[in-house]
Amino acid sequence: MSEMPTRRAVLGAGVALAGTAGLLSRAAAPGAAYAATHHEPPSARAADQYVTPDGPEVADAETRRGAGPLRKVSLTANASRLELGGGLTVPSWAYGDRLPGEAIRVTAGDTLELALANHLPQATTMHWHGLALRNDMDGVPALTQPSVEAGADFTYRFAVTHPGTYWVHPHSGVQLDRGLYAPLIVDDPKEPLAYDKEWIVVLDDWLDGVEGSTPDAVLSELNKGRASSHGAAGHTARRRAAAADGDTPSRLLTGASSDLLGGHAGDVAYPHYLVNGRRASDPSVFEARPGDRIRLRVINAGGDTAFRLALGGHRMTVTHTDGFPVRHTETDALLLAMGERYDVLVTAGDGVFPLTALAEGKDASALAVLKTGTGAVPAATVRPAELDGELVTPDRLAPDDGVALAQREPDRTVRMTLTGSMDAYDWAFDGTPYDPAVRHPVKAGERVRLVFTNRTPMWHPIHLHGHTFALAGEALGARKDTAAVLPGRSLTVDLDADNPGLWMLHCHNVYHAESGMMTVLGYLR
Ligand code: C2O
Ligand code: CU
Repeated sequence: MSEMPTRRAVLGAGVALAGTAGLLSRAAAPGAAYAATHHEPPSARAADQYVTPDGPEVADAETRRGAGPLRKVSLTANASRLELGGGLTVPSWAYGDRLPGEAIRVTAGDTLELALANHLPQATTMHWHGLALRNDMDGVPALTQPSVEAGADFTYRFAVTHPGTYWVHPHSGVQLDRGLYAPLIVDDPKEPLAYDKEWIVVLDDWLDGVEGSTPDAVLSELNKGRASSHGAAGHTARRRAAAADGDTPSRLLTGASSDLLGGHAGDVAYPHYLVNGRRASDPSVFEARPGDRIRLRVINAGGDTAFRLALGGHRMTVTHTDGFPVRHTETDALLLAMGERYDVLVTAGDGVFPLTALAEGKDASALAVLKTGTGAVPAATVRPAELDGELVTPDRLAPDDGVALAQREPDRTVRMTLTGSMDAYDWAFDGTPYDPAVRHPVKAGERVRLVFTNRTPMWHPIHLHGHTFALAGEALGARKDTAAVLPGRSLTVDLDADNPGLWMLHCHNVYHAESGMMTVLGYLR
């Protein structure tokens, strides 16, 4: 075992020097968090002021969720060779040797028991993006659970309460930018939508295993070899040396620009963009009949790419974002930040239609095909006119009445500034790189307002674990767990603190997160 602090030490990271007055309280002296967790006996931290993932508050919250039918799934994380279409096969890491991993499917009210076997050469964890689940199953190493070491197993077990479109990925280093992702679909036992077919659409930007590239080497190229927040210093330094020797191409992207994203679009030049694991030259084809109502569940599993999505010849009706229903809203195109999901309904025309995912600001696109009749498969580079049509953004969506958060004065406002620059690659909240011992305190039962002000020259998709906030405005808006904050702008969201634990709050650009743009919302006892 490594430099990783032990579970007990981190979970117990305590009150010694805590300042309770500030918005940001620090559970240990600045910079001393890791040292302290190494050398202080756990007993010295018994008076911890935060709920711990293995504490009674978390167990009580789970008891209140109830224990429905048990749904058992086994999953193996493997080093695999993946076929990306058009004869390209790459070495990578994936769930069950598939890309995307097979969809995990449960019904709201079920208890999911997933046995993960880690056959990767590295420690990993599994995170359930968007689920309000029990905190100790949230899959964040050194915060909610110990890493699942190479060769080890871990069984996740928790109640699933809310239907919707979610997904799973590791929360360890930059593993998310390999092939380790899968849809997680929670069916509604009283599904209110009527449709004939369901089409799960997973978008991704791809570089792993292409000409020797790995996400670790890319992180190292971006941050100029500085150790990542997971402490793989030696590893990344070696990778960087290899990159400098010229045996892998640079993946640094400059000049990517998008008005929709407020300027600089992304940091990484990916050689491929994928829909459902396929390149545009050899796309996946979804077959249906003309007139079928199709529910698309779209997930952006990318590392550093927003996708603009449109289905040629069709309007889309947005029904959900981030798993939660919205008042049905028509649109031509969608923009999905990393981690975001949209469900839309389309009524299929007669023919063959491109579903194009434009890598926003990166001058490339991915493709899948809807086929209901005869016609040629669209060209890889096809750009349907709908991409430049009406584009509904989250602020223009209203929540479905069943999930609208009631207006309430916030009991607590937490203000955070997004900081950092491309040059220094020092992305952070409030200039402080991620430290699991630093928490923004909230209390169970509070209405909490989070205000993010983006003082960086780049957009950031901000994601909160364990909760689905409401976009704040004149009225409380759509419920979401991931929302983009454009440069120079701010984002205000309200949430009910109803799920005790220690919850990650981070940028879902995996390279930004891993460079430090992560923090923790911690429930006080
Ligand atoms: Cu999609 Cu912290 O996660
Ligand atoms: Cu970011």
